[in-house]
Amino acid sequence: MSLHIEAKPGEIAETVLMPGDPLRAKNFAETLLDDAVCFNNIRGMLGYSGFYRGKKVSIMGSGMGIPSLQIYVHELLVEYGVKTIIRVGTCGALRKELRIGDLVLAMSASTDSHINKLRFNGQDYAPTADFGLLLSAYNIAIARGVEVKVGSILSSDTFYHDDETYWKKWADFGALVVEMETAGLYTLAAKFNARALSILTVSDSLVSHESAPSEVREKGYPAMAEIALAASQ
Ligand code: HPA
Repeated sequence: MSLHIEAKPGEIAETVLMPGDPLRAKNFAETLLDDAVCFNNIRGMLGYSGFYRGKKVSIMGSGMGIPSLQIYVHELLVEYGVKTIIRVGTCGALRKELRIGDLVLAMSASTDSHINKLRFNGQDYAPTADFGLLLSAYNIAIARGVEVKVGSILSSDTFYHDDETYWKKWADFGALVVEMETAGLYTLAAKFNARALSILTVSDSLVSHESAPSEVREKGYPAMAEIALAASQ
C-alpha cells in the first residue's frame, strides 16, 4: 500500500493503462480485460487488474493534470515496480485537418507547466515517448486500418485560458493537440527508467469549436485502449 493506492504488493501488473477518468478505467477494465479485480478506490481513483490475451494488465485513472497524474505514476513506478505506462486519454485538436475521433500518438510533449522548470532549475527538458512502444502502437494501428497521427503535442496546466488564442503559438511550432498530462508522464518514466506512451483521441477542436458526440466517443475510446493493450503485449 502506498499513500494514494491501496493495492497489496503484486496486485498491480507491470503494464498499466491510464485514462484520466477513473470511471473510464472501470469501463475499459470491465469490457476489455478478463477477470478484472479492483485494487484501488482511494479518492475514487479506481484501478483494476485483469488479463488481456492471458497477460496480466492493470488499468487505473490518473485524474486531470500533471500534479494528479504524477502522484499516481510516481507511486506505481517506485512502490509497485510498474515498468510500462500507456496513457489513453482525450485531447483538443490544434489543427484543422484533425477530426473528432482521430487518434494521435504523442511523440513528444511540450508544456506550459513549470513542474520541469522547478525540477531542472529553470532549464528545459524534452519529455519524449518510448520509441519501441510508439512504433509498436503505430504498427498495430496501421495493421487494423486505424489512421493515426504521430507528432508533438502540448500538455497545458490550464483548461480554461484567459487568452482563448494561447494555443496558436504552439500549433505554429508543430503541436498537433493539447491535453494536460503527457509531459508529466514522460518525465517520470524517464526518471525511473520505465516506458511510456500517450495514445490520445481527439474529443474537441480548438480550431472548429466542435466537440465529440457521445457515439463518436464510445467508438474512439475503445479503439485507443485496444491499441494500447495490443502494444503492451
Ligand atoms: N484542452 C486541454 N485538455 C483537453 C482538451 C482541451 O481542449 N480536450 C481534451 N483534453
